[in-house]
Amino acid sequence: MPEPVASGSEELVLAFLAEAGDEVVSGEAISDKLGLTRAAVWKHVEALRQQGYRIDAVATRGYRLVEVPDRLRALELRPLLNTHDVGQVLHCFEEVDSTNDRAKALADDGAEHGEVVVAERQTAGRGRRGRTWSSAARRNVAFSVILRPEGLPPVRASELTLVAAVAVCDALRQAGVEAGIKWPNDVLVGGRKIAGILTELAAEADEVHWVVVGVGVNVNARREDFPPELADLATSVLIERDHPAPRALFLAACLTALEDWYDRHAEGGFGPIREAWKERSVTLGRQVSVKTDTGEITGTAFDIDVTGALLVRTAVGVERIFSGDVALLRPA
Ligand code: BTN
Repeated sequence: MPEPVASGSEELVLAFLAEAGDEVVSGEAISDKLGLTRAAVWKHVEALRQQGYRIDAVATRGYRLVEVPDRLRALELRPLLNTHDVGQVLHCFEEVDSTNDRAKALADDGAEHGEVVVAERQTAGRGRRGRTWSSAARRNVAFSVILRPEGLPPVRASELTLVAAVAVCDALRQAGVEAGIKWPNDVLVGGRKIAGILTELAAEADEVHWVVVGVGVNVNARREDFPPELADLATSVLIERDHPAPRALFLAACLTALEDWYDRHAEGGFGPIREAWKERSVTLGRQVSVKTDTGEITGTAFDIDVTGALLVRTAVGVERIFSGDVALLRPA
């Protein structure tokens, strides 16, 4: 059965209620503000209830939004977003192959900076280095953001991956989990992976056309939702906190943090991002083993340089690593 779709006014009523937070809003205030009749306001409130919103009617005083459905549609997300660009255009799907693939196609067709693709389920989610990304439908968060960084040379585009890692780490900490970053952009809690980031771009020699930053976060996945081979390697907000997180709020926090760190990068360059990344790192000061395209490097990870490359002190000197898979061995 097709899902009910919110009309424009319904969305405005919801936004009004969401903005009021715990406050009761009178039907009169809503109708005055939105230019609707009281009967129309009542009809929209009823329609929202049908879609799973809990809206209490408080005798003689008005309405209060008590609960939003755990869904990732524009209807849930828009009222929560206070960004200037990121997420101002949302493409929300029940199912897609990969949000990164959708975002890339949209970017090729001229989508604007900040447009976001979100899906409840991916049939061909992709991870770094050709791996797949599997994620339980309607439990987690999978999204891709289209960025058009002005004046950023292609060689510096990878800095945006670290921008995203810092932002996702902050959103997770805001949700109450002690997340940290494993180079370059895995987000871990207690050594287990909670989020991954896949960055792709289209560029010419001296110009970036677009960058797509794809983010997958295990939000409300239960232990049994992970395939057996990941059971000991992955975790989720639900597992860590022992209670679920409202996904729309979490996604809005990710998009807000992403825009915030993106703006700091645009204004201040990689310096502030490098510092923020180092503060959140769980890699530096560790013995690591890094699988690169040319072999395995073992040593102590001690810094990232001004390009974001990992610096590892080995028995024969310092190695500068641009891409690879890091295994954390023990504190140095
Ligand atoms: C990794 O850790 O290997 C990166 C995982 C990235 C997964 C996200 S989910 C949303 C977006 N769409 C994809 O197909 N991949 C990214």
